[in-house]
Amino acid sequence: MKLVLGIETSCDETSCAVVEEGKKVLSNLVSSSLEFHQRFGGIIPEAASRYHLEYILPLLDEAVKKAGVDFKDLDFVAVTYGPGLSGALMVGINVAKAISFSLGVPLIPVNHILAHLYASFLVKEPRLPAIGLVVSGGHTELYYIREFNDLELLGKTRDDACGEAFDKVAKILGLGFPGGPLIEKWAKKGKQKIPFKCAKLKNSLDFSFSGIKTAVLYYVKKKMANSNHPSERKSGLMENEISDLCASFQEIVFEVLVEKARQACIMKRVRSLILGGGVSANSLLRERMETMAKKEAIEVFFPPPELSVDNAAMVAGLGYRLSKLEKIKSDYSLEPKPVLEI
Ligand code: KG4
Ligand code: ZN
Repeated sequence: MKLVLGIETSCDETSCAVVEEGKKVLSNLVSSSLEFHQRFGGIIPEAASRYHLEYILPLLDEAVKKAGVDFKDLDFVAVTYGPGLSGALMVGINVAKAISFSLGVPLIPVNHILAHLYASFLVKEPRLPAIGLVVSGGHTELYYIREFNDLELLGKTRDDACGEAFDKVAKILGLGFPGGPLIEKWAKKGKQKIPFKCAKLKNSLDFSFSGIKTAVLYYVKKKMANSNHPSERKSGLMENEISDLCASFQEIVFEVLVEKARQACIMKRVRSLILGGGVSANSLLRERMETMAKKEAIEVFFPPPELSVDNAAMVAGLGYRLSKLEKIKSDYSLEPKPVLEI
């Protein structure tokens, strides 16, 4: 039974996990500096790094303790080395190197995007080859996955990431940060009434979300100019208008995600679709994807919500899988790769 320690520090979450055989999550602790960044409406990279430095060692001890194991029982150390914030990644990488060296166990570098796609494997066994759709705050990418060391990028966003569009729309509406969960909450009370359009980019599996973000901005500006309602909200919209806007925005964005995922499955003739990343925690997206998948006889896999967002269990899990696929040679010259392509 191989035990992998996972370390994740690519953004604002400091996370340490112990996973057995790439499947059984013995511990998965996450500590976030999100609350600190919230007042600025976005992540402050320098502050995120300092937070990681302060919290990673106690978190590490706690993760090993909670797993009911000892450091000397660990077989591998897996760490996110990109994409992400350079200083933040550096903290996790250096701690991972130190543990790997001192315990004499291999160090496995893990790509954060692929770790999001692995998250579903912690609870189920999706069939490969599969189509993978990552929808996070920094990435929106479609992959053909033969194996986790053999992937093909089929499409990506040409501008904003999907989660970024959620965050920006929430900012325009004055709802707070991060925008995804807030938009989901507001949308639950609203109806799809506003005919926003989201770029479909025909004959391509690429995405574009900057157009719809700008459409929302102009819609709100126009509403504000014509508004007689003295509203306490920054956007000047009434509460029911905010809900309708959120519902309309979500529906149209998800229509594009669902359609591109469907096209990718058809193009590659696969019947297995894996989702990952923060936006995949959205319950409407899950519902829309499942409806499409049922119609097309595709099996769709989502990680449970706590594994959809950034966490170290997915890093440890993927680390184990990679150790089975290729020989791991610990390379202590490993450096953060803020931009990391497959
Ligand atoms: O994967 P993640 O935790 O971090 C990155 O690697 O970026 O994703 C964060 C993104 C944020 O943009 C956030 O607004 C979005 O995921 N998000 C959601 C939901 N929960 C998080 N978007 C839509 N609906 C949600 N429920
Ligand atoms: Zn992420």
